[in-house]
Amino acid sequence: MLKIKFLGVEFENPTVLASGIYPTAVNALLQAVNNGAGGVTTKSIWLTEHKGHPAPTLITNANFTINAVGLSDHGVDVSGKEIVMYKEKIAADSKKAPILVSIVAGTKADFGLIAEKISAYNPDIIEVNISCPNVESEFGKPFSCDKMDAAEVTKNVKARTKLPVIIKLSPNVLSISEIAKSVADAGADGFCAINTLGPGMIIDLEKRTPFLSNKVGGVSGPGIKPIAVRCVYDIYKATKLPILGMGGIISGKDAIEIMMAGAGLIGLGAAIYMRGPTAFKLVADEIAEWMTAHGIKDLNEIIGVAQV
Ligand SMILES: Cc1cc2nc3c(=O)[nH]c(=O)nc-3n(C[C@H](O)[C@H](O)[C@H](O)COP(=O)(O)O)c2cc1C
Repeated sequence: MLKIKFLGVEFENPTVLASGIYPTAVNALLQAVNNGAGGVTTKSIWLTEHKGHPAPTLITNANFTINAVGLSDHGVDVSGKEIVMYKEKIAADSKKAPILVSIVAGTKADFGLIAEKISAYNPDIIEVNISCPNVESEFGKPFSCDKMDAAEVTKNVKARTKLPVIIKLSPNVLSISEIAKSVADAGADGFCAINTLGPGMIIDLEKRTPFLSNKVGGVSGPGIKPIAVRCVYDIYKATKLPILGMGGIISGKDAIEIMMAGAGLIGLGAAIYMRGPTAFKLVADEIAEWMTAHGIKDLNEIIGVAQV
């Protein structure tokens, strides 16, 4: 009932660990699968080690999360080995839980290079992070803010890999439809949406300074769900390509909602902070319950049905 094919890759259920919530370490990724994740995404991987921002980097509550982790990663040679170990362990346990590898780079050309390097480790899908608002101080506006830049990155990645490629878009743009169309024309196979909103800021009242060491961070969690649903709706309307939808998806009903807007898979980030590591199983069970109550046998019956 919950099985779903996304870009030709089979998932046991539509819940996927969102990028950056767990480290790119085989045991962390397996923990998500053992708790019911249909698939996992790595943290965004760079060509070489990237340090990220000093603590404090994260604050989370019932309404939102704000983070400025700053995309810390050990680099492709180290993170790539974790991908291989993950795939071996999943195969040895006769499990099915595809791995999406998120890649990031500081230049459009380097996106092509990292795509080629990461493909050697044979992940199931490449997710291209051109939309993180936390590294603007280092790299300027994300490439997802400009349709030409976004298209050029897409072309560079597609030229260097045979794997399915999804581009992760930012909600921080005037027209996500325009960006999505440009990326689709450049050859993307699908999308991931949305990355964090903002950046936002939290003030520490006692210290009278911004709470995060980076001052600002990307906002995620329940408060951004209506924006995520609208972005997924717009991208699907503009392109009809498969979308990994995320942004404040906490419950089975949230998942159904973003699927009706056009998502084929559901990313969970804040749900893990709010409901614990078993959030995948809880959300998947709630989706199944809703399907049974509404006489739905296949998730494809609801993907994009809210499009008017
Ligand atoms: C602590 C933290 C780290 C994140 N790191 C990444 C990352 O490395 N790459 C990326 O594409 N998105 C990253 N994100 C964004 C999430 O993948 C996701 O797009 C966002 O949190 C919205 O989903 P949610 O509301 O379910 O958390 C991060 C989010 C958080 C909270």
